[in-house]
Amino acid sequence: MKYYLGVANTFHDSSLALVDSEGKVIFAEANERYLQYKRAVNTSPEPYVRIENLLLEYTEPGAEIIAAYTWSEDYEDYIKGIMDEQGFTAFKDYIESTPDDEVPDLIRDQYFSSAFFIKSALAGSQLSGLNLQFGLSQLPERSRINLAGIRKYEHHLTHAATACYTSPYTEASCAILDGYGEGSAYQCYSYKDNKLPALASRVQKYGANSGSLGFFYMQICKLCGFGLFHGEEWKVMGLAAYGKLNPALYELMTALIRVEGLDIVQADMPVCLNSYLELEKYRHMGGESYLNVADLAYTAQAVFS
Ligand SMILES: [Fe+2]
Repeated sequence: MKYYLGVANTFHDSSLALVDSEGKVIFAEANERYLQYKRAVNTSPEPYVRIENLLLEYTEPGAEIIAAYTWSEDYEDYIKGIMDEQGFTAFKDYIESTPDDEVPDLIRDQYFSSAFFIKSALAGSQLSGLNLQFGLSQLPERSRINLAGIRKYEHHLTHAATACYTSPYTEASCAILDGYGEGSAYQCYSYKDNKLPALASRVQKYGANSGSLGFFYMQICKLCGFGLFHGEEWKVMGLAAYGKLNPALYELMTALIRVEGLDIVQADMPVCLNSYLELEKYRHMGGESYLNVADLAYTAQAVFS
């Protein structure tokens, strides 16, 4: 029998799902649960031993496995390209050549976060499939399970497929607003007849009009005093319920990022620098009540919405 092993192989929040040939989900789990490691940052998407034991438990000897991944074949080359791009190297030069006290915390954080994400994304991509292929090769012949194929899909298409195929609709427009992706952090799709063509090609690279609502929300999360990889982003929304709109903050935040047609555009570096410098004056200070930044959370939610 044929099975489909879905592997969400981003370097954080990786997860596994096994679907039978009828399309029925027979197993699904975020790896953080098995690993007992919040968000499973920088781990293999197929935990060793776990992956072959799962397949032994839920399939039968002789089963064929098609593994499907949430980043395309070209992703690794794309990531390597970003490292050499003018936008990122200019950012690196700016951080390295500017005295520490002249760089806004949020700008410094954006640089180190970007560098961390890029290196982690490359490592995550290179780890994908490694444990699966080796684990299956080590099974004794009587319980052999065959890896019959590996499929790699464009990242935002996998988000769109999850949203559309699990929805009650047969026809829809679908907007994916992510933290990052393969060329941009957003994409729009048209969903009809079970097909999902993209509405526009996204070829922007790092720094060129690559606005990211995900990155914006990460920065707000940090300003509110919550950790990015501590799984605390949801607290921004909860805190917003205690705040009200601050017009000055709203102006600073809307200067950072804007929507133009189907594009999300990030402001130029001087505008970002100025806004971040001003926004830092509103940030949560360690030890104070989080209610002091409730207006920050509310205003960010208003901008985000
Ligand atoms: Fe994503």
